[in-house]
Amino acid sequence: MLDRTRSPLRICLLLLAGALLTAACGRDDGPQLTALEVAQPDGWDDQLALNIPIDINPDPNILEIELESKLADIEFTEGFATPAWTYGGTVPGPLIRARVGDTIIVNFRNSLPEPTSIHWHGMRVPNEMDGVPGVTQDPVATGGEFRYEFVARDAGTFWYHPHINSAAQVGWGMYGPIVVEDPNDPEQFGDDLVLMLSDIGIEEGSGDFLPVDTGGKFGDLFGREGTVLLVNGKVQPTLKVRAGKQQRWRIINAARARYYTIGLPGHTLVRLGGDNGLAAWSAEVRNIVVVPGERADIVFTPSDSPGTSSMLRWIPTERGFGSVFNRPREDMMAIQTVDEAPVIPAPIPRQLREIEAIDTRNAEERSLDMTIDLSNNDVIMGINGIPYWNFEPIEARIGETHVWTLTNETIFSHPFHLHGYFFQVLDDTRIPEWKDTIDLPVESTVRIAIRFDDRPGAWMFHCHILDHAESGMMGQLHVLR
Ligand code: C2O
Ligand code: CU
Repeated sequence: MLDRTRSPLRICLLLLAGALLTAACGRDDGPQLTALEVAQPDGWDDQLALNIPIDINPDPNILEIELESKLADIEFTEGFATPAWTYGGTVPGPLIRARVGDTIIVNFRNSLPEPTSIHWHGMRVPNEMDGVPGVTQDPVATGGEFRYEFVARDAGTFWYHPHINSAAQVGWGMYGPIVVEDPNDPEQFGDDLVLMLSDIGIEEGSGDFLPVDTGGKFGDLFGREGTVLLVNGKVQPTLKVRAGKQQRWRIINAARARYYTIGLPGHTLVRLGGDNGLAAWSAEVRNIVVVPGERADIVFTPSDSPGTSSMLRWIPTERGFGSVFNRPREDMMAIQTVDEAPVIPAPIPRQLREIEAIDTRNAEERSLDMTIDLSNNDVIMGINGIPYWNFEPIEARIGETHVWTLTNETIFSHPFHLHGYFFQVLDDTRIPEWKDTIDLPVESTVRIAIRFDDRPGAWMFHCHILDHAESGMMGQLHVLR
């Protein structure tokens, strides 16, 4: 356990004592090893382990699994069971891990008391596999089944979640990670660790969920954040690291509303990419903001002294009115540096991937303005002033390129997500990369370029603060042949 009463002064004194001690004795471990020569500490990720599904298909290029959505009692907080909504009985659901080019088949069965579906967030699936009830498929009723089948076309970190009553269902635990590996990724990226971040709204002193409409209209307006922070479904799990031995963190924000800033004092992180695999080049950063729905692919190089522990904290992150003021940092995950000699980190290549800029010279232009209407004692959110239920679909044709101007003049940030297609953000200050979710900060305009290369059909776009999406900030895109 970590001593939470440590004062900064005490920590300084401890650090100083540690440094003097190390200097005095010296470490006589022979020549220093490099990160590639040593393994992660024993049981390094045990507390973060995810459920691995059984592949029932003998074909090595097909991953076929059975997946059942069901209620399961889970002890998020010690001594209290919470009646979670789950994929396969765990939160998060099983880790779907495939190689690029593999076919993924999920034989899905719904044993929940209400209809559901699975949406494969960020994956370029055929339209009829996109998992949007009423748009691409019928809802999967209680006791019903649906077979999802698609090719993992792109390497990257993705996730899955329901697309019906999703603020509630995702908030109650329905989310799971997908990793599509690229066998050509260099070894220097380090050992893979999926960190699925979320929060769950349960009452203190019981494991019960807070009512679905907690906070009433204000809850819809602000977006409901949970009361307990979870990393891979655990409260403050411990990760073991060895100084200098790199780990590749695939961070997924599965929270229904919370923004995350990832950073650890005294450390820089190397960002490899995000939503849809590697960016054009890597970059050293102090902090990374991951908005709901978004992913971050980073190399973490531990550099604390052997035998010490530190805490990765949730840092209040600006997302508009009331999101930062007076909010404390919260403990999220303990990082325990094992008592082994530090190793020399492996250099991370700068050049990662060719990303050709989308040619926007003949692009069609569209404007999408995120709007909130507070008249008539109600909270109606929309796009261009129109809530989802009245929104005329945006049309595009296969072969077209669009530039969408996304504007946000509301007092909240909105993480904008598009199904089915990756886009590029038109902004010279960013490292080129493919994205499917982009933050629209308060009072901002972001322009994105999309190429409709294939896969006609009806695709959703919406704010990934799920309470906002359900209050109407959602629309459809119809891609025609
Ligand atoms: Cu993740 Cu529609 O979303
Ligand atoms: Cu929003």
